[in-house]
Amino acid sequence: MKRMLSGIKPTGRVTLGNYIGAIKPFVSYQDEYEMIVFVANLHSMTVYQEPKDLRKNTKDLIALYLAAGLDPQKVTLFLQSDVLEHAQLGWYLGCMVSMGELSRMTQYKDKASKIGKNESIGAGIFNYPSLMNADILMYDPDYVPVGEDQKQHCELARDIAERFNNRYSETFKLPEPIVPKVGGRIMDLQDPTKKMSKSDETGKGCIYILDDINVSKKKIMSAVTDSDNKIIYDVKNKPGISNLLTIYSILSEKSIPELEKQYENSGYGTFKKDLAEVVGQELQKIHDRYQEIIQGDYIDTVLNEGAQTARRIARKKLAKVERKMGITIKK
Ligand code: TYM
Repeated sequence: MKRMLSGIKPTGRVTLGNYIGAIKPFVSYQDEYEMIVFVANLHSMTVYQEPKDLRKNTKDLIALYLAAGLDPQKVTLFLQSDVLEHAQLGWYLGCMVSMGELSRMTQYKDKASKIGKNESIGAGIFNYPSLMNADILMYDPDYVPVGEDQKQHCELARDIAERFNNRYSETFKLPEPIVPKVGGRIMDLQDPTKKMSKSDETGKGCIYILDDINVSKKKIMSAVTDSDNKIIYDVKNKPGISNLLTIYSILSEKSIPELEKQYENSGYGTFKKDLAEVVGQELQKIHDRYQEIIQGDYIDTVLNEGAQTARRIARKKLAKVERKMGITIKK
């Protein structure tokens, strides 16, 4: 079986973008691939997290992975901070990347460009891709399924793996990012030219998976479209309706042309009402399972087992890396 690995940060509440771009694909891959999925809680420290919120968001994310259908019998599920080797490998790999490479990362550039005059940007945000490189390369995955915004970080991981292999001999597999053809970039419902994001300040354009379902349906009904009332997929000229068609297509498993045909004689009102129902049904299934999972100690059991499996792989890999680099003096 080929191996896949991916993670999500427990920063803020999980969004429909995370669900469509990452969690749902993970679930669909678990029978075909050996999956390793984790909660990237070290990554969330690049911006201040209220401890009680971080604890809740971390637990919710694990519960959501499980509620969405990830099966711990098939998938290794763990918390990044439970496997200390990530931070250590992150340091070594951070010493192999240049400032130029890190400053070319779009996510960093975006953050840096929004920084106010008297604000400063944390060093963690700058060096964040090194830790991500470690998360990935530690486990020799063949594929890394991510949304569009993380593709560049995965490509850097490939470059660093190659650099390490050239310098110290073959050690890491070169991973390939996999971005969903449809749904790799779900857009904000109020401003469909920007990505739906956990850090959306008003929250109006963002659907949070665990929010009240009626609130989410209302957000679909008030999503920004245009005035020509035609349900056609055209990202450039009709970004709002194209984004809604994408969401509809993924959740209903109907293709976009199929949906265009189904709604060729309808207006936006009917389309949005149906989509709100589809979103509501998907969320309802997740909420029901989430309620069962969040109680009791099931999550702890899953995380303990997942960490044991991950540690076994990580220890071996780190030992190999340290031998090759000359860090270890024992034979
Ligand atoms: P994060 O937590 O920002 O996002 C988690 C995943 O969700 C995807 N995503 C989206 N997909 C479609 N539309 C959107 N609007 C949308 N918003 C987010 C992201 O692309 C991602 O796949 N650095 C990573 C976490 C990470 C990681 C890793 C991922 C740490 N180590 C190793 C893969 C491998 C991050 O911040 O994702």
